[in-house]
Amino acid sequence: MSQMSQMSQMRLSLDQLTGTNRRAADILLGNDRGGYTVPSAKLYPFQWNWDSALVALGFSVFDSDRAWQEVESLLSAQWDNGMVPHIIFWKEEKSYFPGPEQWGTTDIAKTPPTSGITQPPVAATVIERLLAEDIDAHRDRAAKLLPKLDRWHQWFLDARDPDGRGVVAIMHPWESGRDNLPDWDRPLSFIDTTGVGTYHRRDTDIVNKDERPKNDDYDHYMALVRFGRDCNWNTDHIARNCPFWVAEPGMNAILRRAERDLINMATLLGQDDIAARATARLARLDAGFEQLWSETVGGYVTLDLRRDEHATGLTSGSWLAMFAGPVEPARATKMAATLTYWLSQVKHGVPSFDPNHELFDSIRYWRGPVWAMINWMIATGLIEHGETDLADRIRRDTQALIDQSDFREYFCPVTGRGGGGTDFSWTASMSLYWAARPETLPITPHLSQTGTADQENT
Ligand code: GLC
Repeated sequence: MSQMSQMSQMRLSLDQLTGTNRRAADILLGNDRGGYTVPSAKLYPFQWNWDSALVALGFSVFDSDRAWQEVESLLSAQWDNGMVPHIIFWKEEKSYFPGPEQWGTTDIAKTPPTSGITQPPVAATVIERLLAEDIDAHRDRAAKLLPKLDRWHQWFLDARDPDGRGVVAIMHPWESGRDNLPDWDRPLSFIDTTGVGTYHRRDTDIVNKDERPKNDDYDHYMALVRFGRDCNWNTDHIARNCPFWVAEPGMNAILRRAERDLINMATLLGQDDIAARATARLARLDAGFEQLWSETVGGYVTLDLRRDEHATGLTSGSWLAMFAGPVEPARATKMAATLTYWLSQVKHGVPSFDPNHELFDSIRYWRGPVWAMINWMIATGLIEHGETDLADRIRRDTQALIDQSDFREYFCPVTGRGGGGTDFSWTASMSLYWAARPETLPITPHLSQTGTADQENT
């Protein structure tokens, strides 16, 4: 735990932050709605799951109490079945679609209403870092959250992998957090959208429509929302019958990492039963992840579980395999070489989709653009596999994009132009956290749980 305690020496006050760092902090404060933070004031006016977790890292640089509040408010919306929802509608806000009426969760969610799906469970990794800042000071707060994380992670296996394959599915593209990835095109094509009817999208009122998912994609998204609402979000029914049932590397990698970080914390805090359960889940997920490896594509790709069919392209989620845990050296070397090649094709990495693939679209949402928080996760995994130069390139690229285009939702990898929402919380958070904590990337000793990647590489 010595690496953990070193971090406590680096706390800063708001007044000590200057330039870009101060502006990043001001964005977080401006998007703070009192205990939770909205991703971007106009486009996303509620609390989003993985945004919120990652935003806590930024707050932790100058206000650790506020950072803890962020994850506490997120986990306070946990459903009785363990799921932590992807959106929490704390306040009524008519400008957003689809809102509580479309999700139809008011009978299931605790007050306030929420969406009916989840998002990648990066919260455990974030909480591990908040705890590491000062273990003695934060022990009690963390101890209260661990049982919630444990139940949420268990929900993933129960609800999204009931057959015990060792990979968790998503039942909606939004569950992945990478909404309109080309990976979803084919699985979505089998969905009947005839009953969707007419509706008014709100996102394209605010953002240029060339940067957002197409209307046809949206019809499919709404068909799946209706499917979930019609079965009252019954997880058994969803697992057996949902027409979209896909395992993807980003979600599975983040969950594996989350289990490792949960084991770390539970062991440290003496919650041995949680550590034991997380260890058992991790063994299943580590083994199952192999199903996502495609020899044809040369990396970890999405698997359509209804058709047992791999996607044809790598995505930014593919590199998160290194964030998940140790990747065997031959594969890690191959992945680093492919990533280096990708980076030679664009001005700034990491594109969300293979820049050499015919479906690459440099500015349309998750079909090409760069996202700061994915970059941070990729770089963290690279460092843990000894790929420090590559990680540093990604860190510098992220900052260059922000310097050029400000704290936008995402960036064009070819030109550096910003896209989507403005004054975006997780972009600000990652910039600030990365600047304040550059040397602490390999914070967790958890790779030693299954042998360290560093050792394997040397
Ligand atoms: C979009 C993103 C998703 C994010 C949300 C709020 O839906 O695809 O990952 O959580 O916006 O920022």
